[in-house]
Amino acid sequence: MAFEKNILCIGAGYVGGPTMAVIANKCPQYKVTVADINPRRIAAWNSDNLPIYEPGLDEIVKAVRGRNLFFSTEIEGGIREADIIFVSVNTPTKTFGAGAGMAADLQYWEKTARQIREASQSHKIIVEKSTLPVKTALAMERILTSTANGIHFDILSNPEFLAEGTGIKDLEAPDRVLIGSRETPDGLKARNELIEIYANWVPRERIITSNIWSSELSKLVSNAFLAQRISSINSISSLCEKTEANITEVARAVGMDSRVGSKFLNASIGFGGSCFKKDILNLVYMCRHYALDEVADYWEGVVKVNDYQKERFILNMLGAMFNTLAGKKICLFGFAFKANTGDTRESPAIYVSRRLVEEKAELVITDPRALINAETDLADIKEKIDFIKDPYEAAAGCDAIAVMTEWEVYAALDFEKIYGNMQKPAFIFDGRNILDHSNLFKIGFNVFPVGKPPLTHF
Ligand code: UDX
Ligand code: ADP
Repeated sequence: MAFEKNILCIGAGYVGGPTMAVIANKCPQYKVTVADINPRRIAAWNSDNLPIYEPGLDEIVKAVRGRNLFFSTEIEGGIREADIIFVSVNTPTKTFGAGAGMAADLQYWEKTARQIREASQSHKIIVEKSTLPVKTALAMERILTSTANGIHFDILSNPEFLAEGTGIKDLEAPDRVLIGSRETPDGLKARNELIEIYANWVPRERIITSNIWSSELSKLVSNAFLAQRISSINSISSLCEKTEANITEVARAVGMDSRVGSKFLNASIGFGGSCFKKDILNLVYMCRHYALDEVADYWEGVVKVNDYQKERFILNMLGAMFNTLAGKKICLFGFAFKANTGDTRESPAIYVSRRLVEEKAELVITDPRALINAETDLADIKEKIDFIKDPYEAAAGCDAIAVMTEWEVYAALDFEKIYGNMQKPAFIFDGRNILDHSNLFKIGFNVFPVGKPPLTHF
């Protein structure tokens, strides 16, 4: 069968893989190829053991792989063949030179742009999918148009708003699809081509358009606003712990104001994930660049509160466990940065693990999906940690449990049994407020939620 369009995605990660799987599933008339420089990643995408865990992803990939979805390391051939190229390579925070620790590292992006320029023999639409600093499209345009071979490229910004763990649902029924373009005749034509792809399954009124810079900025600002809600509620959780207030009750009362809304008000150990911190720091860096220091300080505060929340958790543990953790055995329930993913990028559990080892505690880590990543993240202190999949086995002989990830399975465990096998006094620090605290207290645990009075037997 001849396909109507050839779509290529460069970068087979958490964004590229699921997004292309959903496009291929919804649009059998297009050929969708996902290419990556990492051959192990591509081999995994072509196997029964996909490189990322995302509910619903396995089923879709099984249904469309080999039909109109292909995973390949052949990037140049893919570029030549493609009408539309999505770019979703990684854009981590820079670790060196100017802007280290703040700005985005665009080296992978720039390499990709040059590769597209070298391999192209015909006009192409290039779609920015990775989150990027505002005006990256301009740099991309300059690189792509810097030879005199007469090939025309249109650059679009189409930020991905999917959240991990709910990625497939978010892709299949997005709140909105945003497409930014140049407002020239060519730019508008390219924009319409991309609208046409999404219109195969997304209602037209949910596909919104803007100029390219607004689109790039909207992605950073969306993540900054979401993260800001979490830091706002987490900052108040510390005040609740000092008073008789209960953060769940406060969040409910505040969230019922329809102007505020009830989502993203769960107090926690702190936010993690590959986006929030990186995108806010990107925003902060940009504001400083334009000498908007007050604005930069405001947003940087969101990251500072998040760091404070993680350290506060450790200090609470220390305070509760008689000011020493040395030699005590502590079990972390969960290591992923959120439930329903194996991703551990920027997971608060990384910080907590390192601090606990620094306090000379012994550590046991359990997680249904993230143990392999946990071992990689903590490779340098691995010998001080046990990684055990079964939570009952993991908690046996421990002095304390600290909940890091809101996996549903944890709320359904038999805590009588767990308590029976732990050291006494036994402690639970619920960094996600997912457990039944009064029941745990009745069983005998000393319970320390986030933003609520502790329940202790002494
Ligand atoms: C986020 C954005 O939601 C998504 O739109 C964007 O495309 C990428 O970044 P993601 O990082 O995958 O998605 O997950 P998200 O659900 O936003 O959670 C981020 C972190 O915040 C997690 O660590 C989560 O546990 C934490 N969180 C979330 C809270 O601590 N409290 C909440 O109320 C909500
Ligand atoms: P995200 O969460 O944004 O999807 P990931 O790190 O999961 O980020 O995925 C980015 C992918 O991009 C990685 O698999 C990486 O190997 C790939 N990549 C980086 N640079 C290039 C490049 N020049 N060509 C092809 N793939 C690349």
